[in-house]
Amino acid sequence: MINDLSTLFIGRTHIHLDTTQSTNDHANQLITKNYPPEGTVISASFQTAGKGQIGRSWYGSPDKNVLCSIILYPNFLRANDQFLFNMGMACALRSTVESFVDNVPVTVKWPNDIYVRQKKISGILIQNSVSGKDYVTVVGIGLNINEATFPAQLPNPTSMKLEQSMDFDVNSVLAKLCEYVEQYYLMLQNGSGHKIHSEYNSFLYEKGAINSFQIGEGKIIDAIIEHVNFKGELVLLLEGKERAFSTGSIRYI
Ligand code: BTN
Repeated sequence: MINDLSTLFIGRTHIHLDTTQSTNDHANQLITKNYPPEGTVISASFQTAGKGQIGRSWYGSPDKNVLCSIILYPNFLRANDQFLFNMGMACALRSTVESFVDNVPVTVKWPNDIYVRQKKISGILIQNSVSGKDYVTVVGIGLNINEATFPAQLPNPTSMKLEQSMDFDVNSVLAKLCEYVEQYYLMLQNGSGHKIHSEYNSFLYEKGAINSFQIGEGKIIDAIIEHVNFKGELVLLLEGKERAFSTGSIRYI
């Protein structure tokens, strides 16, 4: 059970596992067997094969972090609004981190990493499928909480503990995360996606700054980060002209 939960449906059904391969895998297995109630949260103390984006792995030592997956059925979303959903989840996660971390900027690095200053504190892995007439979405969230050291090969990780020099109660962070996910999910459901879009842009990492990017596997460019458009493309100012890049077509360096 998630203590002190004040939500309507997110986290009301909760499965906690001491050890699992990946909470996203566990959620996807449950979905193939039956339809868990919307808002079911699967959390774990430890993952043996936590998944990150683009085939990467996700690190977390036992008991120190939020590692969870939330099952949602966003049938109200139009196909073109998929990125708005991702933005909503990123905003929910950003707000959660901000509510525990004082005096440091908490931003969203496109497409949906959460950064504290120049370091990554949290990531989201969203997996979509269609089952019958339903859209089924698994929102996997890794949020570094009481982790004090990370493997050297991770580029720039941080945790709430490293930022604030104190330990946090993992359950309280999970409860707050459920509240924010519900709040932003309901905003998407009631047609307030434009508010999420503008909030996402107001917290966009390095907005207005010059950054280096690699386009595809080739050219390195320096460009100003302008905004992220409704399609979820990163809009850059490059040699005086706006250019939009889709996820996967460009990367920060
Ligand atoms: C990223 O690469 O930034 C996304 C990381 C997502 C990690 C979380 S941890 C809980 C859930 N289960 C997984 O296997 N991955 C996600």
